[in-house]
Amino acid sequence: MPLQRSRVDRNIIASALLIALTCVGFWWAFSQDTRGSDSAYPSLAFFVSLVMGVAAVLLISPQAKEALAYAKKLFPMFLREERAGVPVAQKLLQPEGPGAEMPEKESEDETEGLYFDYHRDDFHRALFDSYPATYRLTKSFHFIEWNVVFELIFGHLEAVGPGKHVSLWARSLERFDDMLKHAQEAFSDPEKPNVDVEPLTYDSPRFSRMQFIKIAAPALNIKTGELLGWNCVLNIDEVTQPDEYYDALLESLREQLNWTSYAAAYDAVVPHSGEYVRLAERHSRAVGDGERILDVGAGTGYLTRKLLEAGKEVHAVDYNETMLERLRHHCCDYAKRLRVYKMDIRHLRSLEEMHYDGVVMMNVLQSLKPEEVKGCLEMAHQLLADDGVLALSVPREGTDLRALFESIRKDLKDNEYWGSEDATKPNLRTKYEELYRHNQRMQEGNHLHEFSKPGMQELLEGAGFRDVFVTDDDVYAGQGLFASAKR
Ligand SMILES: C[S@@+](CC[C@H](N)C(=O)[O-])C[C@H]1O[C@@H](n2cnc3c(N)ncnc32)[C@H](O)[C@@H]1O
Repeated sequence: MPLQRSRVDRNIIASALLIALTCVGFWWAFSQDTRGSDSAYPSLAFFVSLVMGVAAVLLISPQAKEALAYAKKLFPMFLREERAGVPVAQKLLQPEGPGAEMPEKESEDETEGLYFDYHRDDFHRALFDSYPATYRLTKSFHFIEWNVVFELIFGHLEAVGPGKHVSLWARSLERFDDMLKHAQEAFSDPEKPNVDVEPLTYDSPRFSRMQFIKIAAPALNIKTGELLGWNCVLNIDEVTQPDEYYDALLESLREQLNWTSYAAAYDAVVPHSGEYVRLAERHSRAVGDGERILDVGAGTGYLTRKLLEAGKEVHAVDYNETMLERLRHHCCDYAKRLRVYKMDIRHLRSLEEMHYDGVVMMNVLQSLKPEEVKGCLEMAHQLLADDGVLALSVPREGTDLRALFESIRKDLKDNEYWGSEDATKPNLRTKYEELYRHNQRMQEGNHLHEFSKPGMQELLEGAGFRDVFVTDDDVYAGQGLFASAKR
């Protein structure tokens, strides 16, 4: 893959020449004995050198980051080892801790069935959701879904959204016209789907210039061979700011891991909590007769299902695949009235063409950074039809996790989910403890933000809502806030 070097090369060389001339000019100007001389040449040389020095700096400054990255390429000894492409990957894979050099032999318990049934849903997904950016298109090249890495790099673009044509996104890449020509040649005959390889370049506002090798392969129906859509992978070839990129990537993967490991215990335990069930009913009542509802941060789909049971059309948004797998499973009876969007709720804007009668955000806003909450509420406001209703719940200021979990524990015990004679009732004690520890870690790590009543009132009014109602009276075992508002 050729580097985009020529512009960086030219500027670096010109700047180096100017710096050399500047040094010579200054040396000459200062080495002249000007005492008793009225020659103007040393002053002139001083002035010209100064101008050349400024020009050298100006010439190189717009490309300073690229120049630095390029210089690092030329002189690899300046590269910090852990940031170079391959060593980062190796580091991620290396086992750590005592005995790390001698990984244990594969255990049969652990691998049972995996070498045979490697299409198992859990395994299959993990493969698709790995480090390159990936996305899926319909036959007619509209986005269906994309992975976390694609979201990290392109999620902020309004052109990236479920149902949007891929060419809208492609406009944000370099050399769009060439890409268009390439696509016309590669995909002109839908009867003969082809595996297509294409280099792409994107000037990312966050990570600067990024270069990819795109591989698009047709997704075929394995029984009939019929074309269903396209699976596309963007292998990352070059990132101008690898530090920023890898830090952001790791943060994102950790965020996903957190929810993935949370999903099973959450799904098993909370639907048995009377407080949780009442909270879901409260959201459902608030959106009233509204027909089309957006469930933001839908998780494992408890509220989604309740809304579907009440006859509504529901669009469920969440960025965690494990949560969504569970949601699809719980809501499969209502597939015709359900759309599942795997995306980040910080980018809800890309759903702009939809209009909803109601938006629900149950126990989700606390996961965003405080500065991201207002933007998310503003987007919800834009997505609502006139008179549409928003209903949300969050932890209140000074949340006492123990009180909330005590009420959950009581319900589990009362309903015989704490070890019972009844074989149909699983013992949820371990899952409960797991969930508690998880929430504790999130609270201690400052990943669960709390909201005050006046703070929430202000946020909702600031986002353009009217008829704002906020209460902490008897919400989620006294530990939550519930709010509703209208567009
Ligand atoms: C505590 S769960 C609540 C799930 C559901 N609303 C409920 O009450 O049962 C929070 C959910 O929000 C999702 N979530 C958190 N941050 C998100 C983000 N930035 N974009 C999309 N989903 C997010 C998580 O994946 C998780 O499923």
